[in-house]
Order: sequence, then structure tokens, then C-alpha cells
Amino acid sequence: MKNFDLWEEVYGFHFFTTVMQLYSIDRAIPVLETNKYFWGVDEQFLNKLIKTRDTLLSFVREKGGFIDHTREIIKSCPQVLGERSGLDIATILASVYTHDEGNAGNDLEIFDVDDNNILNTLYDLIESMSELYPINKLKVENNNKKTKFYGTALGRYPEDVYDGIDVSEGNPWFLATAAASELSFKLIKKYREESKDIVILKGNRFWSLVLDQYDPRKDITITYNSHGFNETLKSLMELGDSFLDTIRSHVANNGSMSEQFNKYTGFNQGARDLTWSYGAFLNTIQARNSIKNLL
Ligand SMILES: *[C@@H]1O[C@H](CO)[C@@H](O)[C@H](O)[C@H]1NC(C)=O
Ligand SMILES: *[C@@H]1O[C@H](CO)[C@@H](O)[C@H](O)[C@H]1NC(C)=O
Repeated sequence: MKNFDLWEEVYGFHFFTTVMQLYSIDRAIPVLETNKYFWGVDEQFLNKLIKTRDTLLSFVREKGGFIDHTREIIKSCPQVLGERSGLDIATILASVYTHDEGNAGNDLEIFDVDDNNILNTLYDLIESMSELYPINKLKVENNNKKTKFYGTALGRYPEDVYDGIDVSEGNPWFLATAAASELSFKLIKKYREESKDIVILKGNRFWSLVLDQYDPRKDITITYNSHGFNETLKSLMELGDSFLDTIRSHVANNGSMSEQFNKYTGFNQGARDLTWSYGAFLNTIQARNSIKNLL
């Protein structure tokens, strides 16, 4: 079950790959079951898939040691913890990639966009990268938004040293910055479509970005459709848009997006016109379009 991470760097056990494997198998099983006779699906193969799904599920929930109960974050690859903080935008990507359809589809049941550990992971990434990349400090000074963390340009993981050509210093990436935006929009969709109260567990750091007077010492419930609920969704929209604003200010004049943008100058760097950057941007816009009438 060892494999490489999505950045193709570390051979080990990864939260991202495990979640994606689980999601693929979990979605395949009902399709195969429904069409079992028609397609002549082998019963043994189906049983093997079900067993594999259960193994992956317990691995990603407990056995793999991905959840850090003290910091309340997801550790991306526990094997390299000595060298790395465990924070990785791949964790956020895993959540948004497996929660695409809301009520309409069969999203993964765990690690949804409102998951406490997922949200704290995003907060810690934002906090750490706001210091790490000098362009973010510039932004902080010019920022009249709610918090200094609005629109933080995000990279892959704090210890990254790949500059797009060689090894020196890591930079912000378009797809990583878009992920923060996409997650914010999907949160809105979730609360609105599921007609759910917003339940915030005490100690959650993410919500300090969204709520004006946030007391992390207690659990908070914001009642569905109340004034506070509506205002909270609007704040989430502003937060999501702040990352899109950052992307807009670093896209080349002709609309071109490469892989990274330089952490000092803000100019495009690394793989030119990276398809993944455009894909991430389009997914984010799609998520935004699906909620803009729900506010
Ligand atoms: C909150 O927004 C919803 C949807 O627009 C609306 O139906 C509801 O009346 C709003 N609640 C309050 C308290 O304004
Ligand atoms: C857009 O601009 C970038 C950088 O200025 C350049 O490298 C790229 O070739 C341009 N792309 C197109 C399609 O003209």
C-alpha cells in the first residue's frame, strides 16, 4: 500500500493518496453491484473490493496515524514528521476532490469540507505561509479586509524547496491558493443545501478567519437561516473571494498561469501554463457559480 504522494516526492503512506483510493473504490462498488449481472462482474472481485475499501477506511481513520489529536490537524505523511510539520495543501485537495456533489451525489462520508481537522489544517497552512512568503507580508500591509490572513498566497507545504526549476526555496502555487477558495465555497454550499446549523467545535482555529467575535473556548452553534447564519455565509464568500483576488493579481497579463508565482516578486515561475493550475481555477469558479444564488 506504500505509494508516492501527489507531488511525486516521498515513497510512503499518504493521506491524499489513501483518501483518493478510498473514494474511487467506494464509488465503484455500487456501480458494479448494480450492473453485476449485466456486466458479468465476478463476485470474488467484488468482495475483494469491499474488503479493500474497509481496510483503506480504517487505515485513513486510525491505523495510518494521520490525525493529530493534539494539534487537531491532518498529518499528510506521518513517516516524514521529523523533517516536516505534516501540513500540506494536499490534505485540502483531498477534501475538495472527494466532496464535489453535495446532496446530488455520493461524496465520501468522511473528511468533508466542514471537518474540524481539515479546517484547522487549512488555518495552520495559511498562518505559516503568511510568514513564509514575503509577498504575503506586503499584502498584509495593504489589506483592509477582516483579518490579515485574507488572500494569503499558498504553496504546497511549508518545507517545500522546489522552485519550479531546481531546489532552492518553495513558492506559492496557483492550485494551492485556489484550494482555499474552493473549500470556502463548498462550505457555503454544504450549509445552505443541507439546511444545516453551523456547528463549530471549541478550539477550531479556522473560524477565527470568518467570525467577528470568535471565542475559541466554547462550542458554537449558528442556527440555520438566522441572521447570523446568513452573515457567516457572506463572510465565507469574502474569504473565498480573497484567494481568487490573489490569483488574479499574479496571473500574467495575457491570462497565463504557470505552476508557481515567485514568493518575492509575485511573477509566474515553474512549469509554464500548467494544466492543473487552470483546472484548479475552473473547479473553484464552478463551486462559486453553484452558490452565488444561495446567499
Ligand atoms: C437568510 O437568507 C435566506 C435565504 O436568502 C432567507 O430566506 C432568510 O429569510 C434569511 N434570514 C434572515 C433572518 O434574514
Ligand atoms: C503569456 O505571457 C507569458 C509571460 O509573460 C509568456 O511566457 C507566455 O508565452 C504568454 N502566453 C501566450 C499564450 O502568449
